Order: sequence, then C-alpha cells, then structure tokens
Amino acid sequence: MCVFQEILGDKTIAILGAGKIGAAMIRSLRGVAGTIVATGRRDETLSKAEELGAVALKDNARAASMADIIIVSVKPYQLPVVVRDIMGHVNGKIVVSVVAGVRRDTIAKRLPGAIVFRAMPNINALIGMSTTAIVEGDYSPEHRLLVEAVFRSMGTIYWIPEEWIDTWTGLVGSGPAYLAEIIDGLVLGAVSMGLPRDVVYKAVLDTFKATAELLARNGKHPAVIRDEVTTPAGTTIHGLKVLESRGVKSALMDIVEASSRRGRELGKEIDAAVDNALSGG
Ligand SMILES: NC(=O)c1ccc[n+]([C@@H]2O[C@H](COP(=O)([O-])OP(=O)(O)OC[C@H]3O[C@@H](n4cnc5c(N)ncnc54)[C@H](OP(=O)(O)O)[C@@H]3O)[C@@H](O)[C@H]2O)c1
Repeated sequence: MCVFQEILGDKTIAILGAGKIGAAMIRSLRGVAGTIVATGRRDETLSKAEELGAVALKDNARAASMADIIIVSVKPYQLPVVVRDIMGHVNGKIVVSVVAGVRRDTIAKRLPGAIVFRAMPNINALIGMSTTAIVEGDYSPEHRLLVEAVFRSMGTIYWIPEEWIDTWTGLVGSGPAYLAEIIDGLVLGAVSMGLPRDVVYKAVLDTFKATAELLARNGKHPAVIRDEVTTPAGTTIHGLKVLESRGVKSALMDIVEASSRRGRELGKEIDAAVDNALSGG
C-alpha cells in the first residue's frame, strides 16, 4: 500500500466538474482514495467519469454530502452555481478550489464551516506528474496532510503565497504549452535538414527529459551545463549565437511576464464577477 493510500484509502473524494483537469485528477486518485465521486451536467461527462472508476452524479449537493474532501474544478463562470449547490453540505469538510482566478476568500466567505484551500495543478496530472501550487494558509497539520496527499498522488507540490499565483499560472500552468512549442520548433529544424520527424521527435523528447533530470540531479546552474557542451568553434556555439542574436532568452522572460500580467488582469475580473454573482448581483 502506498503512503497516499494509507492517508486517503478510507476517504471519499468528490470532484465537482469532471472535465479535462477533473478527469486527470480522477486518473491520479483512483486506487489511492477509497471512493471517488464525480459530477458533471452532460451524460457524456458522467459516463467518462464512470469509465475512469468514479461514482458519477449530476447532483453536486449529494456528492458533497458523501465526501470527506471536495475538489471544485469547474470553469470560473460555472463556480457560483456549484458553490450555491454545496452550501450547507460542507461543514467541517475540506473544499479545494482549482478554479483559476478566484481568490480563496471569495469562496471561503460563502462556505462558512468549510476548510477552504486553493490549488493550481497543471495538465501533467494526466500522467501523475502535475506540478501543483497550494496556497498557504492557517491550516491544521491534519488538513494539510490530507490536501498534500491528494496533490502529491498526482505529482509534486509547492506551498506558495496567494500573491504568487498569477505568475505561477503563467509559468507552470501555461508552461507545458511553451515547452511544447519549443520542442516543435527544434523538431521542425531537424526535419528541414532532412531527418524523419518520428525519429527526431522522440530524440528531442528524450533530450528534454534527460536535460531536466541532469539539472535536477547535479544541482548545477543551467549556464554550467551550457558551457560544458560548448566547444570552441564547435556546433553548439554556432547555435547559441543564433539564440542570442534573436533574443530568445529575453523572449522567454517576456512570455512569463506577459502571461502572468494577463493572469493578474483576468484574476481581478473573474474574482469580481464571481464575488458579484455569489452576492446575488
Ligand atoms: N485544464 C487545465 O489544465 C487546468 C489546470 C488547472 C486548473 N484548471 C481550472 O480547472 C477548471 C476546469 O478547467 P477544465 O479545463 O477542466 O474545464 P472543462 O474541461 O470545461 O471542465 C469543466 C467541467 O465542469 C463541469 N460542470 C460545469 N458546470 C457544472 C455544474 N454546475 N455542476 C457540475 N459540473 C459542472 C462540466 O461538465 P459538463 O461538460 O457536463 O457541463 C465540465 O466537465 C477551470 O477553472 C480551470 O481554470 C484547469
């Protein structure tokens, strides 16, 4: 029995909104949680959740009543309905929102008696390798342990202050999209030099995984690894010169900045709209 199973094996976890990220979380939690209950509105959503091993329901209130831990994973504009559905069914229970843009307090003030967490997993939860941020708060060790076990069962976790979450979303949430683009560009370069796409695609993925692992294992700064593969007058320095002349590093920095600024803007809009909808405005 794995450590997460020991912690969550007798717990029922409800995933309210079994869409893309909800389904990814079911995949990671099945076999770890005692029971998974999942909700959605369409029959298609429910049958997919059932195929993944969840008990599928349309009724959020019933799912929340059955659960020890409730994870809310609907789109922000769908959140007010779900919060209203579960009011009165969450006393003393853990409610984790993974909804982008909505502040923890916006939800917590509408669910008195619930222990409300905010987390931000990423799509790598599909393969049990999410990099998840959990917003810090004044929680009991027991509640922290349960929420950590939920997200550690689907990858790695980082406790962060809520002020960081927009930049985090721009970096780690959107990160898989940026890295996928970089991988695609490198593959196309090799294809333009006449190499077969299927072979080089796999080789580029292997190189990405291995470079990340090398950096993680030896703890050296990326610039040290760069210098170790850069022979005077060799191939690498010619490639690096192109990276420098096109301003690729500064473009990467700008990407994270632009994405987190947009995250902050959207967060303000979404939070105000959800707060307004929950106030009945
Ligand atoms: N996708 C990601 O990588 C990711 C990562 C981190 C956080 N998030 C956050 O997670 C949330 C969901 O994103 P997503 O990409 O998974 O969206 P999604 O695929 O559209 O999933 C949303 C799900 O919510 C269900 N739903 C809508 N209204 C509902 C209601 N009243 N009761 C029960 N279920 C309801 C929908 O079911 P029906 O289709 O049956 O209506 C749908 O399956 C968003 O807030 C997003 O910011 C997403």
